[in-house]
Amino acid sequence: MKITPWSEECGALVGDAQLANIDESEMEGLRSALATYGVLFFRNQELTPSDHLAFANGFGEIVLNKFFAPVEGYPDIAEVRKEPDQTMNIGGGWHTDHSYDEEPALGSILVARELPQSGGDTLFANLHKAWVALPSSTKRKIKDLKALHSNVHIYGRDGYYAGTDMGKMLKGADDVGQAIQPVVISHPVSGREILYVNPAHTISIDGWSEEDSKALLDELYDHVVQPEFTCTFDWEPGSVAIWDNRLTWHYANNDYDGERRLMHRITLSGAPLAAAA
Ligand code: SIN
Repeated sequence: MKITPWSEECGALVGDAQLANIDESEMEGLRSALATYGVLFFRNQELTPSDHLAFANGFGEIVLNKFFAPVEGYPDIAEVRKEPDQTMNIGGGWHTDHSYDEEPALGSILVARELPQSGGDTLFANLHKAWVALPSSTKRKIKDLKALHSNVHIYGRDGYYAGTDMGKMLKGADDVGQAIQPVVISHPVSGREILYVNPAHTISIDGWSEEDSKALLDELYDHVVQPEFTCTFDWEPGSVAIWDNRLTWHYANNDYDGERRLMHRITLSGAPLAAAA
């Protein structure tokens, strides 16, 4: 197995490995690389849904996504699908998955199944690098804050998707929820400090007014999306990505109207997050 940085900004490309036949020492190498790089990219994989599931089971426990349709015959695998007649996609804004859960997901394993001729890339951001580069005054200001995260405004009955052509594909509108998370967390594996707010799910800073919360969050978001913290993955048939939800944001580009894009996603369960010391 050969692991090389994908870019200076984030991610790593893993070569000489077939995820359908991975052994325990390679799995250990992947766990460690994921905590370091935040997102791992693989090319030329031959991964059936059963292989995808077996690999995920070896990596960790699976958490069911309440909102996406499951793959037929595989209730643990969610479909991330956009049809040619749809204009809305899933994940078309910067976010990290499941930050609204008390125990946010560790990460996801996304497998390309059908791709558009061009477009449909996924962007990633490294929230440790973004934290490190913040001015000391901002670090001091935000270090001990907490924030409210929610999915009600996205997946709820009157949420964002309900008013779009993606609404009919999603489920779980009554199974929405929210959680309070530290604004700066300590990574459960590496112990590194990570900025843990995201544009899709973070509603407000706990105890702050809406206006003050928005001003701070917008400032942090503008910081994170700078090119020095972000990278782009161009999917090919056989590509797979695994990302760490604590360490990264992601963004699914929606630039392929009229074409189908189908990905299979398994989400790995995580644990409650601890504030950075
Ligand atoms: C997601 O947000 O999980 C979807 C990412 C993608 O489709 O590229």
